Amino acid sequence: MSYDVVFIGTGPGGYVGAIKAAQLGLRTAVVEKRETFGGTCLNVGCIPSKAMLHATEMFAEAGHNFEALGIDIPAPKLNLKNMMAHKDATVASNVNGVAFLFKKNKIDSFRGTGRISGPGRIAVTGVDGKVTDVETKNIVIATGSDVAGIPGVKVDIDETVIVSSTGALSLAKVPGHLVVVGGGVIGLEMGSVWARLGAKVTVVEYLDTILGGMDGEVAKQFQRMLAKQGMEFRLGAKVTGVAKAKKGATVTFEPVKGGDAETIAADVVLIATGRRAYTDNLGLEEAGVEMERGKVKTDGHYATNVAGIYAIGDVIAGPMLAHKAEDEGIAVAEIIAGQAGHVNYGAIPSVVYTSPEIASVGKTEEELKKDGIDYKVGKFPFTANGRARAMLHTDGFVKILADKTTDRVLGAHILGHGAGEMIHELTVLMEFGGSSEDLARTTHAHPTMSESVREAALATFFKPIHM
Ligand code: NAI
Repeated sequence: MSYDVVFIGTGPGGYVGAIKAAQLGLRTAVVEKRETFGGTCLNVGCIPSKAMLHATEMFAEAGHNFEALGIDIPAPKLNLKNMMAHKDATVASNVNGVAFLFKKNKIDSFRGTGRISGPGRIAVTGVDGKVTDVETKNIVIATGSDVAGIPGVKVDIDETVIVSSTGALSLAKVPGHLVVVGGGVIGLEMGSVWARLGAKVTVVEYLDTILGGMDGEVAKQFQRMLAKQGMEFRLGAKVTGVAKAKKGATVTFEPVKGGDAETIAADVVLIATGRRAYTDNLGLEEAGVEMERGKVKTDGHYATNVAGIYAIGDVIAGPMLAHKAEDEGIAVAEIIAGQAGHVNYGAIPSVVYTSPEIASVGKTEEELKKDGIDYKVGKFPFTANGRARAMLHTDGFVKILADKTTDRVLGAHILGHGAGEMIHELTVLMEFGGSSEDLARTTHAHPTMSESVREAALATFFKPIHM
């Protein structure tokens, strides 16, 4: 049996791509070395972390905010075992969902580690060591990414005391002191989870800001909010050592600007210093597939330099985001089926699922300044939004950046409750090249948090109504 296309890896890129390929009539198979489909995102990433973020947000709400809403309850008690069971059930239902969709779309699956063994050939080694040869016209590498570790620092991640995001999702108890290395997305999301459950959390970050690359104003305000929630920050601090101690571990860091090193003790250390493309044992070198800066090099159509081998998702250039991988999966399936697949990299939203959430799409102010583009800013705070007041979710604001001459929206940044849902009207607007006036003249239901989006749009060219 020969396939039209085989996806190696069933994360959001591979599984969505495979479904699309099958829907387009291609004979499709997948290769997966994990026991379950769904990759990092569904098994040990996006999905379980959202289960934990939601559960701990509810815990924090019940503990701190119910009284103000007129709900008197005794202090909530943590049942970590049941919280973990909720997380595990969420993962199970999602990975089983993918298995169901594969069956429904008649996609074959090969369990084991795939290695490109020749043109149109993949050798799949199962857990029992048995090798199955799979023949296919096209191969799509969708093997994702793995923990990068700290460059130049030897760190022994045991997933108990020194953990990656995987271990941080399954701690046996709430650590007294959690030290997070890296103030990026994983560090702040997982740091939030354990801080809400009572851990003291210290974030050690190399840059002078958390969430480097994010709109500076948003990052600064957000850091203040996290500090109010109890998180501590050591910025401009380069971690040079992480070592296990008799009890817990120690983290050593030095000021980036120079100065004395400092060592702090932790019960648990989370290493959240980024991820690297995962191409181990794929046979890429032997197949002659070119790499670029540690990632698989592809052209605008996801093709590598070797005919019939494509790559998508974290393993190629671009933001390491599940939805970026999904869209590339759809596009590559369309391209292989002879259609015109395309992803608009200018309108990919990104969300940090903390409390409040941060969501952004398009350019930041810093990027526009660097590119010498004249822009105007419209801002609206949630303190002036009726619905936000009713829900006690007045933290944050909406910020819209539009071209000074054409009024076309170039970027949008939302810090606030439900930001991750609200960002999509801006994403659609940008996809259609819309202006802030288009948005401001669109009726928004009242009372909703989204009215702040409209008010911010109004503010770019005139005045908001409720300010
Ligand atoms: P990241 O790249 O977001 O952040 C890593 C941070 O570690 C950076 O701020 C960097 O300056 C810092 N760092 C590096 N070396 C250091 C050192 N020696 N000492 C101190 N700080 C150091 O990476 P993260 O958070 O690990 O996430 C990995 C990937 O997963 C990212 O690409 C992210 O986009 C993705 N992800 C996305 C999520 C979302 O969209 N909600 C959630 C979780 C992960």
